[in-house]
Amino acid sequence: MTSHDPSATPPAQPHAVGQGEAQDANTAPDDAAPSQPEVGLGPWEGEWPAGEHFDPELLENGDRRNVLDEFRYWRHEAIVAQLDTRRHPLHVAIENWQHDLNIGTVVRTANAFNAAQVHIVGRRRWNRRGAMVTDKYLHVRHHPTVEDFVAWAHGEGLVVLGVDIFPDSVPLETYELPERCVMVFGQEGPGLSEEMRAAAKATLSIAQYGSTRSINAASAAAVAMHAWIRRWEFGQRV
Ligand SMILES: C[S@@+](CC[C@H](N)C(=O)[O-])C[C@H]1O[C@@H](n2cnc3c(N)ncnc32)[C@H](O)[C@@H]1O
Repeated sequence: MTSHDPSATPPAQPHAVGQGEAQDANTAPDDAAPSQPEVGLGPWEGEWPAGEHFDPELLENGDRRNVLDEFRYWRHEAIVAQLDTRRHPLHVAIENWQHDLNIGTVVRTANAFNAAQVHIVGRRRWNRRGAMVTDKYLHVRHHPTVEDFVAWAHGEGLVVLGVDIFPDSVPLETYELPERCVMVFGQEGPGLSEEMRAAAKATLSIAQYGSTRSINAASAAAVAMHAWIRRWEFGQRV
């Protein structure tokens, strides 16, 4: 048995509730509101499971992290190592010239789809709040300029695809997404920079049917990443 073998996790412990489903610990309970289940699982009951991927402290005190059941009680580094073995060749990038609050949410979604890496282009600092700690489980890389980012992407043999609503954008829904690519998202307000637009092989737009010009950048990122998942995990061709 390897130290990261998922089958090493005895299935005996009950299903855990994720952080997103649980009550905010700082919120005073409303008398009328139904009580919320506690996050995660308490201390391991019974004989401790064997395996270096298990964290004795979590087994002892309980695991209240927002992780899948298969990773319950695992050391943080063991979870990252396991995810590394099955990351998708999809990279995600977001421009960060004005500290866009969407970045945290994009990171969380990239974690959910197990993207290879997330790239922050522009300012190094970004607001981690929306990431809900998910940034600790994937690889976030910073590129100070578009030029740096594009040079890196081409060096890796990745197709750079902008995602935005330019007049010459092509519909994401009918675009044959390459397997090895990096999808780049713009910021609220300015959207994708002209430099990034010029560097991209194509820019892709998401079809909309209401009155608003655009959707929120993090929502657009979720739609676009899922399009890649449908193509390359489920084999759905356009
Ligand atoms: C709010 S939009 C920026 C506004 C946009 N440049 C405009 O012309 O109104 C922020 C980012 O969300 C993404 N986005 C929003 N709606 C989109 C759509 N329908 N198709 C593709 N990307 C979209 C893009 O990455 C964009 O850069």
